[in-house]
Amino acid sequence: MKLSHGSAALIIAWFAVLGSIQAVTFEVKEGNSTCIKAELAASFSITYNTSGSTRTVQVPLPDSAAVDAGSSSCGTDSSSPWLVAVFGPGHALGLSFSNNGSLYSVANLTLQYNLSDASVFPDANSSDVVTLVSSSVGIWATINTTYRCVSPSTFGIGGATVTFSDMRLEAYMLGNDLSPTESVCTADQASTTAPPTTARTTTTPAPAPTPAGTPERGTYSVKNGNGTECLLAQMGLQLNVSYFSLSQNKTIQDLVNLAPNLTSASGSCEASSATLVLTQEQTTTINFTFTLNSTSNKYHLSAITLLANWPDMTAPFSASNTSLDYLRSTVGRSYMCNAEQTLFVVAAFSLNTFRLQVQPFDVTTNQFASAEECQMDQDQMLIPIIVGAALAGLVLIVLIAYLIGRKRSHAGYQTI
Ligand SMILES: *[C@@H]1O[C@H](CO)[C@@H](O)[C@H](O)[C@H]1NC(C)=O
Ligand SMILES: *[C@@H]1O[C@H](CO)[C@@H](O)[C@H](O)[C@H]1NC(C)=O
Ligand SMILES: *[C@@H]1O[C@H](CO)[C@@H](O)[C@H](O)[C@H]1NC(C)=O
Ligand SMILES: *[C@@H]1O[C@H](CO)[C@@H](O)[C@H](O)[C@H]1NC(C)=O
Ligand SMILES: *[C@@H]1O[C@H](CO)[C@@H](O)[C@H](O)[C@H]1NC(C)=O
Ligand SMILES: *[C@@H]1O[C@H](CO)[C@@H](O)[C@H](O)[C@H]1NC(C)=O
Ligand SMILES: *[C@@H]1O[C@H](CO)[C@@H](O)[C@H](O)[C@H]1NC(C)=O
Ligand SMILES: *[C@@H]1O[C@H](CO)[C@@H](O)[C@H](O)[C@H]1NC(C)=O
Ligand SMILES: *[C@@H]1O[C@H](CO)[C@@H](O)[C@H](O)[C@H]1NC(C)=O
Ligand SMILES: *[C@@H]1O[C@H](CO)[C@@H](O)[C@H](O)[C@H]1NC(C)=O
Ligand SMILES: *[C@@H]1O[C@H](CO)[C@@H](O)[C@H](O)[C@H]1NC(C)=O
Ligand SMILES: *[C@@H]1O[C@H](CO)[C@@H](O)[C@H](O)[C@H]1NC(C)=O
Repeated sequence: MKLSHGSAALIIAWFAVLGSIQAVTFEVKEGNSTCIKAELAASFSITYNTSGSTRTVQVPLPDSAAVDAGSSSCGTDSSSPWLVAVFGPGHALGLSFSNNGSLYSVANLTLQYNLSDASVFPDANSSDVVTLVSSSVGIWATINTTYRCVSPSTFGIGGATVTFSDMRLEAYMLGNDLSPTESVCTADQASTTAPPTTARTTTTPAPAPTPAGTPERGTYSVKNGNGTECLLAQMGLQLNVSYFSLSQNKTIQDLVNLAPNLTSASGSCEASSATLVLTQEQTTTINFTFTLNSTSNKYHLSAITLLANWPDMTAPFSASNTSLDYLRSTVGRSYMCNAEQTLFVVAAFSLNTFRLQVQPFDVTTNQFASAEECQMDQDQMLIPIIVGAALAGLVLIVLIAYLIGRKRSHAGYQTI
């Protein structure tokens, strides 16, 4: 209970601070002239160790992030220009640049995070400040142009990932403003609204979400520290998200199915709370938190969080509700619902589940325990029973009518 409150408080804190993930502007100056300017939104996916388990958190780059003037520099003959943005207690994102006279590029990407920050990394078993570096990320542009990539692009840094979106940046600048000429990344060139391109650059293109229909059923599980499965789930998932579409220039209602073969599961199991995190190709992350009430021996789905960063979105979408009461069942049993169920999360996001079976607690021998079925399934099972009973009744009536009729005609025959 304490743990689930901890992570709920974390989620609420981040969303309260952020609302949604916004682009932040950074400038590195030398005297009065700007040498690096960057506008970007970023979100980090970081996995860390707790005692006996691992956990993954999504950390957005907050609005309060600011350039660290001490570490940032415009570069000298022997060092490269470096933009370092710091946020929270000792977290930082760094971009270092290099150029060869005609092109400039992000030479390396640095992510630093402080595991002592319990509001972001609850129950971390270490208090280290971790620094991860990745080189040659493939962000490059022609000198004297602005690199532009509105589409999300994800880069691995060590075991973590960073997803940038709404990105406009320039290094080795001439003036104090971004050059009007842009080098547009490939992901943006694919989008129909992209303005004319002036130079070609490459980044990892963001995969398009799968179109709707009935979603395929996926099988997901979470393992605890010693490798035994502690949470089991089988379900088809369909996201119903309303967001502002870049290509249609209006708010749309989008149905997106989770593709099980592109989705990975992680999470954690604690005594009174269990979390399942489903990630589809770095662009969609759904967190399910189940809470156990040891007094009543019941569990339920208490929180759902969605982070989505789809190509057609103007900004990454995030939604969270931590006071839900769905999929209620008894400890030691699984919850099953074959019928389609709609889990309302927030006004802009609901989740449709199909052929669902979950068990977040007391999993033994990597198998589902006997299931408690949802009301809809029970109602559907009632229909054949009612029809069967009605048919049996009809047969009985016919039989009685026949017997009576036979008796009457028998009697009639005797009187003649
Ligand atoms: C910066 O600008 C101010 C006024 O605009 C000027 O007085 C100052 O000399 C400039 N400094 C440098 C290093 O150019
Ligand atoms: C977690 O612990 C393992 C084993 O000590 C270690 O190899 C790994 O680097 C740790 N992971 C993180 C994210 O600190
Ligand atoms: C943290 O936990 C990991 C496994 O989850 C373990 O390998 C590592 O030694 C632990 N580190 C500390 C400092 O306790
Ligand atoms: C990354 O760039 C910074 C700044 O230029 C530099 O100090 C650091 O050594 C680089 N790291 C790697 C691994 O290249
Ligand atoms: C890491 O976080 C802790 C707790 O928030 C803080 O006391 C410490 O100074 C931070 N470390 C760094 C290097 O900022
Ligand atoms: C700079 O690098 C690009 C890509 O590696 C290459 O095509 C170009 O010729 C280089 N320019 C110079 C002046 O070396
Ligand atoms: C960038 O612009 C400056 C000033 O106009 C010019 O001297 C330089 O040659 C340009 N660089 C490239 C690669 O076009
Ligand atoms: C694995 O760990 C869980 C608790 O974390 C424990 O209940 C279970 O018995 C352990 N299983 C094995 C095979 O050690
Ligand atoms: C999606 O959500 C909207 C608004 O809540 C609702 O009107 C619509 O029926 C939902 N569509 C599906 C297929 O669930
Ligand atoms: C988007 O729609 C608004 C109003 O509906 C309009 O003013 C604007 O020009 C449109 N933008 C594009 C790029 O079509
Ligand atoms: C995932 O499954 C879909 C439909 O079953 C298929 O079209 C697609 O090629 C698969 N993708 C991968 C990467 O296996
Ligand atoms: C647990 O269940 C009991 C009995 O139904 C109820 O009184 C109590 O409020 C519940 N506790 C929590 C934290 O929900």
